Amino acid sequence: MKKIVACFLMTFGLVGMAHAAGDAAAGQAKTAVCAACHGADGNSMVPNFPKLAGQGERYLVKQMQDIKSGLRAVPEMTGMLNALTDQDMADIGAYFASQTGSIGAAKPELVAAGEMLYRAGNAAKGIAACTACHSPAGAGNAQAGFPALGGQHAAYTAKQLLNFRTETRTNDDAKIMQQVAALLSDKEIEAVSSYIQGLSN
Ligand code: HEC
Ligand code: HEC
Repeated sequence: MKKIVACFLMTFGLVGMAHAAGDAAAGQAKTAVCAACHGADGNSMVPNFPKLAGQGERYLVKQMQDIKSGLRAVPEMTGMLNALTDQDMADIGAYFASQTGSIGAAKPELVAAGEMLYRAGNAAKGIAACTACHSPAGAGNAQAGFPALGGQHAAYTAKQLLNFRTETRTNDDAKIMQQVAALLSDKEIEAVSSYIQGLSN
């Protein structure tokens, strides 16, 4: 797993340099329809709707493209991105990336287990530390397209890990998250998701 991680970091870290830059001000005007679920500034109030505020632009654009093409199934967003051009999505990505993400709280009884897994992984099971790609404070790596996780709703995070584990979500490059999630137990998913909700960038 260590080798896979190093290889992945090199490949995507370097490819990450060039992409069309979005215009945040132009993007804001295109997000009226998104606000109902994701919040006007990208801080959604509903645990199943992901926060987009402060998320990396490259990651946001990739997800919009994958949702639009159907590679990632989001039934709630059916048809919503069809009329958007690549420039529109770059602008929207730039807008949400420029906002400040809100932070939640972890359940105190899950912090120790969640933090251990997040920072150290689980060597016995071959699970890589989440910090390797998502950074110690959960800020991710915007340039490489590794998403920020810190402050995200626990319910949303847990659902994504479950979706990767069951191969319901398969739009991750090189199957990196499917491989990580395949090794996670339900208890580990619950603990790390709760920990992430209270993690601040
Ligand atoms: C009716 C509610 C709804 C609306 C409106 C909506 N979304 Fe979403 N969106 C969702 C849900 C639910 C998910 C996550 C689904 C899942 O569990 O995978 C999501 C996921 C996303 C993601 C992926 C986030 C991540 O962390 O991976 C992006 C990006 C996104 N939406 C952008 C938008 C944009 C841009 C708009 C407006 C053009 C929009 N959404 C409108 C419900 C909505
Ligand atoms: C080798 C790098 C790497 C490691 C290690 C890693 N991740 Fe990821 N993770 C990624 C990448 C890249 C994505 C984006 C996949 C995509 O493009 O859809 C991602 C996506 C995610 C998402 C979805 C975020 C969203 O907004 O939908 C979650 C949740 C997540 N990772 C949690 C974890 C946890 C928890 C761990 C540790 C147990 C972990 N990751 C370890 C690279 C990694």
